[in-house]
Amino acid sequence: MSVITTRKDGDVLVVTSNNPPVNALGQAVRAGLADAIKEAAADDAIKAVVINCEGRTFFAGADITEFGKPPLGPSLPEVVDQIEASAKPVVAAIHGTALGGGLEVALSCHYRIAVASAKLGLPEVKLGILPGAGGTQRLPRVVGVADALPMIVTGNPISAAKAESIGLVDKLVAEDDLAGSGIAFARSVAGKSDHPVSSTRTDKIKDIPSDAPFFDEFRKAQMRRMKGFEAPEACIEAVKAAIDLPYAEGVKKERELFGKLVSGTQSKALRHVFFAERAAAKIDDIPKDTPLIPIKKVGILGAGTMGGGIAMNFLTAGYAVTIVERQQEALDRGVSIIRKNYERSAAKGRFTEAQVKAAMDLLTPTLDYNDLADCDLVIEAVFENMDVKKEVFRTLDGIVKQGAILASNTSYLNVDEMAAETKRPGSVLGLHFFSPANVMRLLEIVRAEKTEPSVLKTAMDLSKKIGKVAVVSGVCFGFIGNRMLSPRQRAAQAIILQGAKPWDVDKALTDFGMPMGPFQMSDLAGLDLGWDKANSKGETIRDVLCERDRRGQKTGKGYYDYDENRRSIPSKEVEEIINAFAAKSGLEQRVFSQEEIREQLLFPMINEGAKILEEGMAQRASDIDTVWINGYGWPAFTGGPMFWADTIGLDKVVAGLKAQGAEVCKLLEDKAAKGETFN
Ligand code: 3HC
Ligand code: NAI
Repeated sequence: MSVITTRKDGDVLVVTSNNPPVNALGQAVRAGLADAIKEAAADDAIKAVVINCEGRTFFAGADITEFGKPPLGPSLPEVVDQIEASAKPVVAAIHGTALGGGLEVALSCHYRIAVASAKLGLPEVKLGILPGAGGTQRLPRVVGVADALPMIVTGNPISAAKAESIGLVDKLVAEDDLAGSGIAFARSVAGKSDHPVSSTRTDKIKDIPSDAPFFDEFRKAQMRRMKGFEAPEACIEAVKAAIDLPYAEGVKKERELFGKLVSGTQSKALRHVFFAERAAAKIDDIPKDTPLIPIKKVGILGAGTMGGGIAMNFLTAGYAVTIVERQQEALDRGVSIIRKNYERSAAKGRFTEAQVKAAMDLLTPTLDYNDLADCDLVIEAVFENMDVKKEVFRTLDGIVKQGAILASNTSYLNVDEMAAETKRPGSVLGLHFFSPANVMRLLEIVRAEKTEPSVLKTAMDLSKKIGKVAVVSGVCFGFIGNRMLSPRQRAAQAIILQGAKPWDVDKALTDFGMPMGPFQMSDLAGLDLGWDKANSKGETIRDVLCERDRRGQKTGKGYYDYDENRRSIPSKEVEEIINAFAAKSGLEQRVFSQEEIREQLLFPMINEGAKILEEGMAQRASDIDTVWINGYGWPAFTGGPMFWADTIGLDKVVAGLKAQGAEVCKLLEDKAAKGETFN
């Protein structure tokens, strides 16, 4: 059956797309739409047209899988121009998400109606491109620059109500009869003569000079999130063109910018990231019909840094949460931090007071383990100590109902050993959240040796419900993310003994796009994590720093000095300490370029990533990319460590590792020799 069908309802032609799962605007859809508009034009009995979609959503955009392939006509720009040029009014009837090319189709229609649950947006920037079918020119004309600019530059969608308030949607209609409402609306405008045409409108842009200060102000406000990305600046340029140039020229400018971006490395990388996240949600060897375990009530053990953040994820998503501590004081502290976090978010407008109250009402703090008995899932976030964890799992095994999932939030420890403490190892797995757990998107799901498929599948399903990007890892020290962090930390320690300064090392990585470098990270986490004061004998740089109470930001100094605003300043004292160690090591001292520093620190990570793949600890290379982008701030525009390795060439990585004297993982070496890539 054709993906686009038409039917007549009296004098209205109803054009319906049925291209699951998201009605992406692939070639067949575009051709079908073009034919439908021709059909309407040729039929004198037709006075108006409605475009709508079957399934879960209105067009969610161009078909991303077609990017990078030879173009197939008709192009989307041609189709939207054809829609707009229709003498008979066209109405877009929107449900689900009208995104990217989908919103561009809607903008080319003369009218737009939507159900209240719909969302509208131009997320192209997140794929490293900009709207390429007139979106940057039509949206400002329809809603004004002040509302169009953030939509195009951030890519975040807006609600139907907001869309109505800015004139993007003409009417909100009932959820249950969108098609009927579309036909009625079309009929109501059919007799009119001057239907609004987005591309010829000037009412909202005519008085705005393109040097209006808000372009610069907006750029400044977005600077942090735009850093390193090429597309946002191109988006701004295109919106400026909408003001400066006549429509036809503005569109030409848009197309030129689109062409440059879509063929560039960043867009390729960001498309990889999009598909990588979706691939990560798939567990290869679990049958589709594996049943899910119903989860209603969640138990959390430990109300510390992680326990509190983990609890918030579930409370926000509407789950009842019981949180257990050992002492009243710790419990009270934990609960008050949860409350403060919610209140801070409410003050920023992210929650309403009613939502905060609803979340807090779902929380039951207790000192009694027995209150966990009827939980469907219990996550422990107690101290990182195997004996403590084992004790916890033995206790939970005796209390929590059969069939419930028992999970550990451990960062490094062996989940199989914890599972072995119970009589139900099949119900045990790791759920490794990242700090701050209520903010960070990544969740590593640690599949233990005996974890049952339904337990794993339920965890994966749950991760989506609490808004996380989940990646499955096998049981190994540090799982995927922290395991790859270790060689980077070792390389950082090694290179400062050869002449690179901590601030040079950090800068090489922040210039690359990381949120911070290894030494900034150590200062933030505290240098004394795992440091043994009683037995410290000044044997490492870290020992000496801790002995001098340079234990990181919390003591006002670490690898850096910190001023009263916590701004970091390179430290002479640290330089002297490092120089003394370097002299003792006898290592040759030299100057390192930024590129050399990156290679020294990042190539060993790729090597470790390859080992993780070789051992089957990650299902696929793109899962590793998903971990590092969402858990550690690896710059998405490089596609993640493994995609980045592909980009620069695996042979170059292998040569670099060999020059460093590293033992190269066989999988990496073989791939490089065969000229293959990870992705
Ligand atoms: N093209 C091709 N495939 C797409 C797609 C697209 N635009 N959008 C989603 N898909 C695929 C996904 O890869 C996934 O495939 P899979 O089942 O094989 O893994 C499937 O559709 C379902 O997607 P999700 O798992 O993401 O489903 P959700 O219900 O969670 O989310 C969504 C739906 C909000 C529409 C989300 O898929 C999304 O954000 N899609 C991308 C939207 C987008 O970026 N649009 C702009 C495209 S670029 C463009 O339009 C250029 C134009 O200006 C010229
Ligand atoms: P934390 O020290 O802040 O909190 C641990 C809490 O557990 C304390 O409040 C303690 O009183 C409580 N506790 C200890 N034993 C208990 C028991 N038997 N019953 C009930 N409560 C008990 O520690 P944090 O940082 O929250 O770490 C917890 C776990 O999360 C560790 O396994 C850690 O490795 C892991 N983790 C930590 C991350 C971080 O950045 N802090 C990141 C990811 C995981």
